[in-house]
Amino acid sequence: MGKNAYYAKIAEVVKKHSGINIEEDKFYLFDSRLETLMQDYGLKTIENLSEKLLANDNPKMIAGLIEAMTTHESLFFRDIKVFDQFKSEVLPKLITDKSETKQLKVWSAACSSGQEIYSVMIQMMENANLRDFKYEVVASDISEKIIAKAKQGEYTQFEVQRGMPISYLMKYFDNVGEIWKIQENIKAPITFKQHNLIGNAASIGSDFDVVFMRNVLIYFDKSTKVMVLNNVHKSMRKGGFICVGTAENVFGCESLFEPVPNTTCWFKSI
Ligand SMILES: C[S@@+](CC[C@H](N)C(=O)[O-])C[C@H]1O[C@@H](n2cnc3c(N)ncnc32)[C@H](O)[C@@H]1O
Repeated sequence: MGKNAYYAKIAEVVKKHSGINIEEDKFYLFDSRLETLMQDYGLKTIENLSEKLLANDNPKMIAGLIEAMTTHESLFFRDIKVFDQFKSEVLPKLITDKSETKQLKVWSAACSSGQEIYSVMIQMMENANLRDFKYEVVASDISEKIIAKAKQGEYTQFEVQRGMPISYLMKYFDNVGEIWKIQENIKAPITFKQHNLIGNAASIGSDFDVVFMRNVLIYFDKSTKVMVLNNVHKSMRKGGFICVGTAENVFGCESLFEPVPNTTCWFKSI
């Protein structure tokens, strides 16, 4: 069997457990990304790893494989236009919809190291019309390691310089040595959870008013995207809002979501 056939077997395992679709032109990623996993298990070659993965369903090894093959790139207020649209087109509707209960349920699905959910929290804190609202917030990711980092809420100078306006940095972070620590009042309403988007939809909760699911659908093939969007739709209330990445869409799920006028990445749950 040629090396590509072993890569293909590993790609199959990755897809089965995470939905992440690694095509042949990306097989070159395996060698560098799987080096540590192979060392951890005393395996000398990709062929050995592929055989081990297929021979036994070792959840720890599979978790290590998924950790190695996920991409966690994120930054604060990523794609600022999307946050501007949240402020101008989405939040006013939510404030009206929830004027009785004054409670908002927010989910950052595939939150990576937390920059997205902390940006969302800051934007809501800055909105005077939300002052007396209560939040129930979930931030989730398939990777346990990255969820632990998100929960810590500690960022380097380099990380905060990527998108966090200086005025918000001063207002919502504490400077501890070389680290910027998000303040407790921003973090307190957030529950951090390990969650697989291709898994059980019910386990994450229901009736979410807003879902941020950005820059993760790009890793899935068409049928997985549709399955994930169906899952997420089940967790949202009718009339809730979802935001996808700038390179993503809801093709194949037009009966579940309709575009929000005057926005690019926002959709309303039907
Ligand atoms: C590029 S980051 C996006 C982070 C953030 N949403 C943003 O836009 O900046 C993609 C994240 O998706 C997560 N991910 C990949 N497959 C997943 C799955 N099946 N379920 C949940 N999270 C997944 C990865 O672990 C990674 O942290």
